[in-house]
Amino acid sequence: MPTEPSVHSQSTSRPQGRESDVASPAKGFATRAIRIGQDPDSATGSTIVPIYQTATFTQQAVGVHKGFDYARSGNPTRSALEKQLANLESAAFGVSFGSGMAAANAVCSLLSQGDNIIATREIYGGVHRLLTMVLPRYGITTTFVDMNDLDAVRAAVTPATKLFWIETPTNPLLTLIDIKAICEIRKPGQLVAVDNTFCSPFLQRPIELGADIVWHSTTKYINGHSDVVGGVVITDDADLHAQIAFHQNAIGAIPGPQDAYLTLRGAKTLALRMREHVKNAQAVAEWLAAREDVADVYYPGLTSHPQYELGRRQMDAPGGVLSFRVRGGADRALAIARTTRIFNLAASLGGVESLICLPTAMTHASIPVEEKVALGVTDDLLRISVGIEDIDDIIADLENALTRSEVFAVV
Ligand SMILES: Cc1ncc(COP(=O)(O)O)c(C=O)c1O
Repeated sequence: MPTEPSVHSQSTSRPQGRESDVASPAKGFATRAIRIGQDPDSATGSTIVPIYQTATFTQQAVGVHKGFDYARSGNPTRSALEKQLANLESAAFGVSFGSGMAAANAVCSLLSQGDNIIATREIYGGVHRLLTMVLPRYGITTTFVDMNDLDAVRAAVTPATKLFWIETPTNPLLTLIDIKAICEIRKPGQLVAVDNTFCSPFLQRPIELGADIVWHSTTKYINGHSDVVGGVVITDDADLHAQIAFHQNAIGAIPGPQDAYLTLRGAKTLALRMREHVKNAQAVAEWLAAREDVADVYYPGLTSHPQYELGRRQMDAPGGVLSFRVRGGADRALAIARTTRIFNLAASLGGVESLICLPTAMTHASIPVEEKVALGVTDDLLRISVGIEDIDDIIADLENALTRSEVFAVV
């Protein structure tokens, strides 16, 4: 019987190597999404990457195998997904995980007791929980700063600072952080990691801007169909990749082969989907911004967005998520969230279907109220993930919900 691998097994069993070194005629983004990591199966010729539903791999002799020995350490379906996603992020290495938060935790595994993280003030609630309620128990601290204030970022750096943690656009207020500018502040021994979940590599590629690590909740745009929870950590640095892969093998936060397959399949249409998300979100943002009963719209594609120019430099397009603040306060926001029918009331984003949520009570529930109020994440704020349904249906649904909730509006 094959034995369970040693803790070092992933260093030999995980296929490594620069995918970008492989001569491939696939140049454009959409072509690479469909081709990279997806050669016909060497065992059977299967055109589509098979779901290798196995826990272990039979060895010809002890330690003699085809690159895989035990499925916690590596699985061919996962490897295909990792090659595909690393390539789309213009990087060499990817490690996929069972959730976005498992990926976030793997990034934190690069740190040790006594280290400090400087993080974006506005941040996804689950990451805030990890940084403030889990890591301090291991002696790792986080300093939250307004990363648009580069002097404040520089002032926050101490000898303990090892990681700059960027989320851009931020969740839920769609604030942008200048990735290149933060990379210029980074000194040797420090790393820059970017949560690229809101953009997907189709819209923003942080490694090209100088980041060391990019990670995703692949639950969102990368899979795109709201049927898998997953994550990925991507880097161009072989040593960082080895550390992340070692940690994953040690901890075991892997995605199952079925989930890896679905995510790989979803990502094949990323380019097509993102174009539609952006087109629809831009139309919704402009429509909302023109309404008198909407106080604010937060979307980097509006010229009124304070970082509109940064968005044009850093992102290929402004994305599919936006937030808005209605006149009429929390009661009206609640009424809208209850009334939409094309927009499901649900805490996620990036799927083909439109979703609406109240961040303060849903995605950001774990952040203390005072902190949320200070950031502007109040209970009159609605976040929407604009899907790829027909735009007329999307706008009609919002119009109906806004009109029916007008009883609360203070115009
Ligand atoms: C920006 C962002 N990062 C990370 C996560 C966490 O990902 P997951 O839910 O896949 O663990 C989320 C989830 O909503 C998110 O919105």
